[in-house]
Amino acid sequence: MFNTLVRPDDMERITTPALAKVFIDEQIANIKAQVGDKKVLLALSGGVDSSVVAALLIKAIGQNLVCVHVNHGLLRKGEPEQVIQVFKNEMNANLIYVDAVDRFLDKLAGVTDPEQKRMIIGGEFIEVFAEEARKQDGIQFLAQGTIWPDILESEAGIKAHHNAGGLPEDLSFELVEPVRILFKDEVRVVGKELGLPDNMVYRQPFPGPGLGVRCPGAITRDRLEAVRESDAILREEFAKNGLEGKVWQYFTVVPDFKSTGVKNGKRTFDWPCIIRAINTTDVMEVTVEHLSNELIDHLVQRIISEVPGINRVLFDYTPKPPATVEYE
Ligand code: XMP
Repeated sequence: MFNTLVRPDDMERITTPALAKVFIDEQIANIKAQVGDKKVLLALSGGVDSSVVAALLIKAIGQNLVCVHVNHGLLRKGEPEQVIQVFKNEMNANLIYVDAVDRFLDKLAGVTDPEQKRMIIGGEFIEVFAEEARKQDGIQFLAQGTIWPDILESEAGIKAHHNAGGLPEDLSFELVEPVRILFKDEVRVVGKELGLPDNMVYRQPFPGPGLGVRCPGAITRDRLEAVRESDAILREEFAKNGLEGKVWQYFTVVPDFKSTGVKNGKRTFDWPCIIRAINTTDVMEVTVEHLSNELIDHLVQRIISEVPGINRVLFDYTPKPPATVEYE
């Protein structure tokens, strides 16, 4: 029933563990039939879609799945560690971890234009992934976390489907897309049934260029660290306060300007940290999540005392439109 490239009109929405199990069993059989004893390559970011694809393929073909996790230095605190823990340590995946932090940050040094930053990050990602792919023998398939809205949006001309990831021509693989006919909420139900941790399954959306778009202007390692640390504090406090999974997206931005402050009787000249928390259904229009005064006060205290280089905390009250969700 699920061995199809097009979602059937009458397909029941996968909302329960029992329905997820039927899907999983059938997809495992489909993958085995498609791939046989050949090898499959997967770029595993740790996002919901690629993680669910990895878990399905590990069940279906085990060590014949080669996962490549590229750390481009713009991931959130703890993300690469979690990918290694869940997939390598717990699921015994054949996982290649590529530490490309210096390579990305060196290329991005001094680059201020947002579009150029995105192009560098996207282009370098493909290069690093292609280099790893060429090191592997006998790969015939490329797995992707394409989901049904990706297909609908590319058909409607809204966004280009990330089909085959723009890999160079010498790397032509047949695609394996086991969650292709699912909506995002269904991918989460399937992920939960596959045993993935909640903070992976119910993860908020995270842009491909990562923290790079939350460090506006030229990325420097110290300001990037301030974004990463403040984001980790925000996520921790949202989880403690029951907001994880309830608020669509929340993050911090550290803009490239400094202002005067005072700490322990001494003048400081440091960055502000901006908190953004939004809700939406389609990300075309978003509203702002209003936080309690207590939570705001607590966040301000933690961020200014724990994050080096920050002397002020601001809250972004702007809906979309006119503001976009991300700052670049
Ligand atoms: P904007 O900033 O356009 O963001 O209002 C809308 C949603 O898209 C996410 N976003 C991205 N996701 N690659 C992605 O995978 C990107 O380059 C990118 N830019 C923005 C953003 O986080 C928000 O959820």
